[in-house]
Amino acid sequence: MTAAPPSTAPALGILAVGAYAPEQVVPNAHYAQYLDTTDDWIVSRSGIRERRHASAGQTSSTLGVEAVRDLLKHAPEALDGVNVVICATSSPDAMFPSTAALIAGEVGLRGAPAFDVSVACSGFLYALSVGYSMIRAGLAKRALVVGTEVMSGVVDQNDRNTAILFGDGAGCVVLGEVPQGYGFQSFVLGADSAGGPHLYLRGAALQLPEGTEMGPHLTQNGREVFKFAVRKLGDSAEQAMQEAGLSTADIDWLVPHQANIRIIEAACERFGLPLSQAVVNLDRYGNTSAASIPLALNGAVRSGQIRKGDQLVLAGFGGGLSWGAAALKWWSPTLE
Ligand code: COA
Repeated sequence: MTAAPPSTAPALGILAVGAYAPEQVVPNAHYAQYLDTTDDWIVSRSGIRERRHASAGQTSSTLGVEAVRDLLKHAPEALDGVNVVICATSSPDAMFPSTAALIAGEVGLRGAPAFDVSVACSGFLYALSVGYSMIRAGLAKRALVVGTEVMSGVVDQNDRNTAILFGDGAGCVVLGEVPQGYGFQSFVLGADSAGGPHLYLRGAALQLPEGTEMGPHLTQNGREVFKFAVRKLGDSAEQAMQEAGLSTADIDWLVPHQANIRIIEAACERFGLPLSQAVVNLDRYGNTSAASIPLALNGAVRSGQIRKGDQLVLAGFGGGLSWGAAALKWWSPTLE
């Protein structure tokens, strides 16, 4: 599915951004102590050097609340007018109440509609598109969109194929009206269950279809996911640009899902963009699933990499298998 806003509609974009990563740093050396792996292998095959893990008592909702508090530090008025809360997560505190409702209750938005979106690592892009659409349809004025994960809880810490890749964190944005010429220009979303068996996490089903086996932890076929990711990250980013009437030469920054530096490198090559124009933080945080894009976006905005007027493409992929991308002309990280 692709969509671009009508040219006469008010422009909608990101008014504020925030993020939070738990304090507990887990370096590659931690895994090398008890798994058949090395720091060299992890760095050379993934680019990841360390990730953060939640401490006892920290959950996806508490990380999400910290991300919103960070956003408020930079833009104290940002939640004024927010009347929907959407949370992308595949490691929710519970199936219900939704993680979005728990976050809303803690940040002064009790009573606003709040719900979770579950599209694994593509979740944040889907959640952005839902918030955008609700505002566009007149159902909301402003939307708080959070991506938050405690992946350390759903990954088997004794499985070297997955444990080394994932980390915990949260990021969030407030969506609303921005000056004409800025904001979202297109969305591209998709999913294909044919690739579903390559990346999955068991849900609440007491009985699975005959012949299906699922352990309690996240399971993946790394090679298949890798091939899919390279293709979809580059293609969906390119499609988002085309929908917006732009070409690769117009891009200032690609903000990709932070799964593996080799995936980002290969996608940039496919897309014709130098790697130096991709925002990368996976060396420090690993793959934080639905939190990865807002965490990366927040870091790039705070460090001054991304500046007002920059042309961005956000792009992700994940379980489903699913993908999503959006073209966005960056306005400003604070309310003006
Ligand atoms: N340390 C050492 N060896 C490891 C290892 C680890 N942590 N994890 C896997 N290996 C081994 C494999 O068992 C395999 O051994 P074998 O050849 O004896 O079977 C060997 O390394 C090579 O495996 P391969 O899958 O070819 O490695 P790779 O270069 O593709 O890298 C991944 C593996 C998982 C890093 C890579 O495939 C990947 O990133 N895939 C995408 C995963 C992803 O992004 N998932 C989330 C999507 S949102």
